[in-house]
Amino acid sequence: ATIAVIYGGRSAEREVSLQSGPLVANGLQEKGYRVVTLDLYGPEGLLDPIKQLQETHFDMAFIALHGGEGEDGHIQALLDMLGKPYTGSSPLACGLAMDKVMTKRFWQGIGLATPMYLSFEYEADVAVIESELSYPMIIKPSREGSTFGINKANNRQQLEVALQNALEFDSDILIEEFVEGPEFTVSVIDDVAYPAIGLKASASHELYDYEAKYIADDTEYLLPCGLSEDDEHELQNLALEAYQSLGCRGWGRVDVMRDKAGKFWVLEVNTSPGMTSHSLVPMAAAYVGLDYASLVEKIAQNAWL
Ligand code: DAL
Ligand code: MG
Repeated sequence: ATIAVIYGGRSAEREVSLQSGPLVANGLQEKGYRVVTLDLYGPEGLLDPIKQLQETHFDMAFIALHGGEGEDGHIQALLDMLGKPYTGSSPLACGLAMDKVMTKRFWQGIGLATPMYLSFEYEADVAVIESELSYPMIIKPSREGSTFGINKANNRQQLEVALQNALEFDSDILIEEFVEGPEFTVSVIDDVAYPAIGLKASASHELYDYEAKYIADDTEYLLPCGLSEDDEHELQNLALEAYQSLGCRGWGRVDVMRDKAGKFWVLEVNTSPGMTSHSLVPMAAAYVGLDYASLVEKIAQNAWL
């Protein structure tokens, strides 16, 4: 069987995917699979991804795209229509998970703890925000990844700048009350929650942001995460519930905050998590003895039609 590793794409996260794709391809080759790589919208590739997929011979796809149409269900739907199995979640689950506002509405509906928020399209009303939420707040574009366009605001001036910045990435904006506490991330593969990783950006980063994720070498990853066994189980169960509630399958990664009182708050599910050398799913897998090549093989074997 030939596996197409689809990467690149034209979202803001293209650069991240350019790191994930080749590593995934190498891992699969190491395991003996025949691999073709498809850099969607790459300079040498066709500019029409539909044609690119149609004209390439492959039996299944490993989606190593991040953000945009690579993670929001578009590519997944295209592969469904082409009759090709692919890694990860369905178009519906991807679309829900990519949209942080939809995700939060959904979780509130089923009573899953997610930080208080407001959402706006195009124009946010600062007076309404200030009357309903308290500082500090986190301002996010609804459908973006890798912390693009995300800022923390401690006052009205910062809020206004943050809103403008988020609007550069999406017309839908989410304003969340900031949960003061450590962030954790839980990898899920084949409906199994892996050990949580605690995330601590260094003092020079207020958030676990793009630079802390992919560039800085002083971001601290706590693995084991430092929670008691019971608390980690609670976190893993919550992550799994958040993931399954959106209908996710195959694999994903759930980001969660823990407040000072020890309560967990779910932030989001990533349905096509980073697979770079700095990324978290490979880190959690390695911790339980699953090396990178074995991890991508496992994810590929979970591909479904
Ligand atoms: N959106 C990035 C790739 C992640 O979640 O890992
Ligand atoms: Mg994300």
